[in-house]
Amino acid sequence: MIRRYVYGNVIETEAVLNKPEQENGVLPYFTVDEQAMTLSYTMEDKDQVYGLGENVRGINKRGWYYESKCSDDPEHKEDRHSLYGAHNFLVVDGKETFGIFVDYPGIIRFDVGYTRSEELVITASDWNLDVYVITGENVKDIVKQFRHLVGRSYIAPKWAFGFGQSRWSYMDEDEVREVVRKHRELGIPLDSVYLDIDYMERYKDFTLNNETFPDFAVFNEEMKKEHIHLVPIIDAGVKQEEGYDVYEEGLEKGYFCKKEDGSPFVAAVWPGKALFPDMLNKEAREWFGNKYQFLLDQGVEGFWNDMNEPAIFYTEDRLKNVLEELDKFKGQNLDLDKYNEFNGLVRSLSNNTEDYKVFYHNMNGEKIRHDRVHNLFGYNMTRAAGEAFERLEPDKRILMYSRSSYIGMHRYGGIWQGDNKSWWSHILLNLKMMPSLNMCGFLYTGADLGGFGADTTEDLVLRWLELGIFTPLMRNHSAMGTRVQEAYRFEKIDGFRHIISMRYKLLPYLYSEYMKAVLRDEMMFRPLAFDYPEDRRAVKVEDQLLLGDGMMIAPVYEQNAEGRYVYLPERMKLVRFKEDGTKEEEILEKGDHYVEVALTDVIFFIRPDHLIPMAKGGQCVDEVDFDHPECIGFVENAAEYEYYNDNGYEKDYENPAHITVLRMEAEK
Ligand code: GLC
Repeated sequence: MIRRYVYGNVIETEAVLNKPEQENGVLPYFTVDEQAMTLSYTMEDKDQVYGLGENVRGINKRGWYYESKCSDDPEHKEDRHSLYGAHNFLVVDGKETFGIFVDYPGIIRFDVGYTRSEELVITASDWNLDVYVITGENVKDIVKQFRHLVGRSYIAPKWAFGFGQSRWSYMDEDEVREVVRKHRELGIPLDSVYLDIDYMERYKDFTLNNETFPDFAVFNEEMKKEHIHLVPIIDAGVKQEEGYDVYEEGLEKGYFCKKEDGSPFVAAVWPGKALFPDMLNKEAREWFGNKYQFLLDQGVEGFWNDMNEPAIFYTEDRLKNVLEELDKFKGQNLDLDKYNEFNGLVRSLSNNTEDYKVFYHNMNGEKIRHDRVHNLFGYNMTRAAGEAFERLEPDKRILMYSRSSYIGMHRYGGIWQGDNKSWWSHILLNLKMMPSLNMCGFLYTGADLGGFGADTTEDLVLRWLELGIFTPLMRNHSAMGTRVQEAYRFEKIDGFRHIISMRYKLLPYLYSEYMKAVLRDEMMFRPLAFDYPEDRRAVKVEDQLLLGDGMMIAPVYEQNAEGRYVYLPERMKLVRFKEDGTKEEEILEKGDHYVEVALTDVIFFIRPDHLIPMAKGGQCVDEVDFDHPECIGFVENAAEYEYYNDNGYEKDYENPAHITVLRMEAEK
């Protein structure tokens, strides 16, 4: 059951399309303090709290405070409170089990037992909230109701389930060709190569660098013949430059965000001074969305939207002030205090909360200051694209994922988990975010495999790929200046080939589970707690996940490890695929096990009487035979699997012909 409570004058986010009638009574479970602008709930010791989508720390969010404040922060450390997304949905599970979604576009804080261990306190920045309280049979049921409330998740094209190679600094056609050639020569499967900001002419959206990509449409065609999709990045800021059509047009039509006095708000990002299209203005959104046509016309079928928190390096006004202030330091001997002051000034330049208070949106004719709707910007940039694709390419699925997001955006695209680092702890963070994101509707997601920032190592990339082969978005991406990390840069080529090929062998299962999860408003990745709520050990597991119907994954995420402990909440079959092509199976009883996992082993567990449909694999998704899946299973009696398969680019998702039931009997 979903009940809705409204406080103040709510700003419409369109996260929920068909809103239930609002209730008149008091908000259940919570104490409401209008003065303090808080909703408080007293937790029991054993209560667990799930949700909040993309954020730091555990699957169980208890013990920290989080803030929904879309932030461009590449330091995904435990002391952070926000990442790129704002996902205000959580479920309390324990004495009382219920979900709460606070549909609120401004900055909001969730203190989950941080200040007082038993208190869950939600504090908004102003008192205009649309609150949904959801009760149900169990956590899964509550999540399902919530997902139904916010609408069906985005569906990616099938090719986007292949492996993607990316790096910020593929400078020209030849570099891209080389990436493709290396993969093909070494037999490492590949479906896409990403184009970062360098493909553009001086970082201008919807332009191409004519020197480095002289005939993009022809090049794209050449890549398609190799079964490679080129996926360009689009940034939120539009370069301020006379004669640049996107800038000129947006300015003339008044589609950029403005300051109080009506002049355009100028902030620097990659291209230097730039303007932000007013993504919250319907007309501006339509206009910006139509710009994608430029690349669609060249044969592009996928994009990633970036810097849409929006990220700000500095604003014109602030830079001027800071430079004046810094002038005072000239010739000075900087002691600790002075040095800190100096540093503080320099740091105050980028992503400064104060700068989010000096520009405005035009939402249906109403002028709204940005900070009040900060968390809707990336969402609406991606919505601009998603809505445009529906108009421009109605019959085709276009790959789209974004860095910043808000619930509601999940209908238009997926997200990637932003600028992580080549750290072992970030493999685990990647894993932990999967179920939290699924709860909030983000199913097409994954992290920069191998790590974006910092120098990586071969073993780290291999271990990370052993998780990445299971995530819908599987992309190796790294930052300019860091150690190169394409598979072919390392020694253990056979290992890389084996692990990435396993992705292609598992695609029938992974795609089927993804599609069913989307179409049924379910989670593809679940904490063990959701399926084994009575098992106190299972409830506490934070480094294993259930994946779909019959699989449990438990990747290795520690340097130099030769295996790991795994907790089995019931008897399961361990399946191990080795680099030499052999497969080993072992039935393990409920309980704790130390499982050896060699550096290039791919392992997973199958639940009793469950099947995993697989294929022989291929060098690209086009080569994978989805039509004749071969099941492996753990069949004690009999097992059935509902197999979903479609052609992967059309949109007749509901066609019952896409589902077949696969069966296997136990060998007598
Ligand atoms: C941002 C993105 C990253 C990209 C870089 C350059 O940091 O998150 O993925 O490579 O910008 O465009």
